[in-house]
Amino acid sequence: MFYNHSSSFPQKRMRRNRSKQWVRSLVEENCLSINDLIYPLFIVEGRAIRETIPSMPGVFRLSQDLLIEELKLIEDIGIQAVALFPVVPQEKKTADGKEAYNANNLLCNTLLEIKKHVPDIGIITDVALDPYTSHGHDGVMKGDTIDNDATVEILCKQALVQAKAGADIVAPSDMMDGRIGAIRKSLDDHKKTDTLILSYAAKYASSYYGPFRDAVQSSSLLKGDKKTYQMNPANADEALHEVALDIQEGADMVMVKPGMPYLDIISSVKKTFQVPTFAYQVSGEYAMLSAAAEKGWLDYRASMLESMLCFKRAGADAILTYAAKDIARWLSK
Ligand code: PBG
Repeated sequence: MFYNHSSSFPQKRMRRNRSKQWVRSLVEENCLSINDLIYPLFIVEGRAIRETIPSMPGVFRLSQDLLIEELKLIEDIGIQAVALFPVVPQEKKTADGKEAYNANNLLCNTLLEIKKHVPDIGIITDVALDPYTSHGHDGVMKGDTIDNDATVEILCKQALVQAKAGADIVAPSDMMDGRIGAIRKSLDDHKKTDTLILSYAAKYASSYYGPFRDAVQSSSLLKGDKKTYQMNPANADEALHEVALDIQEGADMVMVKPGMPYLDIISSVKKTFQVPTFAYQVSGEYAMLSAAAEKGWLDYRASMLESMLCFKRAGADAILTYAAKDIARWLSK
C-alpha cells in the first residue's frame, strides 16, 4: 500500500489527484447525504409557542402545533428522522420521575398527533428520566447514588409507553447497566417487536451537554454530576465493552456521544463491530460552531459541513445534529 522511496522511481506526485474539482470528486472516499441526518427537536406544553434557547442559536422549544408544522417542512427538505426531547414543567418533576411513563404525557400525546399528521418521518425518542426527575438525574436515587435496577424497571415502562404512542426507535440515553436487554424483553412481551432500539452505548460524562440542559431546563436542578453512570472521557476500551454488551442485549444500532471530540471512538466501534453506528454532534459542539460563526471567526456553513464529513470518514452511518435543517438545505442546492 505504501511507497518504496528508492531512487529508481519517478517522484510520486500526490497533488495530481487534487488538481481539478472533477478529479477530486472522483477520488473522494466519503460523502455526506441528507439520508445521514437526524434532527433533534425540543417540545414544550402549550400552543403557538416558539421559545429561543440563548446557548443554541437557531434552535427552539416548540409546542406541539408548531412542531408538527416543522416536521412537515423538514420532511419536505428530505430529512428522514428526528429525535424528540420534551421540556417538562417543574410541577410534573418528581424524585421518581413517574411522569416518564404516563401514557398521556407531553411526549406521548405529541407522538400520537405526529403519527396522524406526518406518518412517514422516523421518530426517535429519548429513554432516560432526567427531564422528569426533580434532581435532574437520568435515574432514581437511593440515598445519594443512582439505583440501577430500580431505574431499569422504570425505563422499561417509559420505553413501552413511547412505543405504544408511535415511537419508531426508542433510544436509551441513561447509561444504566442491563437496560437494553430489559427494554427489548419488555417491548417484545408487549408485542412491540418492530420497535427499534438505538442505544446510546458509549455516552460520556461530558461538559459539552450544557446547552442541552439549558434547553430542557434541567441544568439548575442537577445535583452533582453524572460520572457514576456516564463514561470517563479518558477511556476508549471501555466504550467497546459497552457497545458489545448493548449489541448482545439487542440494540439495533449504537451511538457514540459526544461526537467531534470522540471520533476515535466512532471509528473503533465501527471497525470492531460493523453495526449501524450513529454519532451525536451534541449541543455544546453546535454552540461552539455557532458562536464562532456569530463572531465572524468561522464560516458556519463550511465548518459545519466539514464536521459532518469527518463524522462520515470516522465511520458514522448517521449523525444527530442541531444543524440538520441547514445542512439539508445546503446539500439540496
Ligand atoms: C439526557 C440527554 C442528554 C443529552 C441527550 N439526552 C444530556 C445529559 O446526559 O445530561 C445531551 C444532548 C446534547 O447535549 O445535545 N439523557
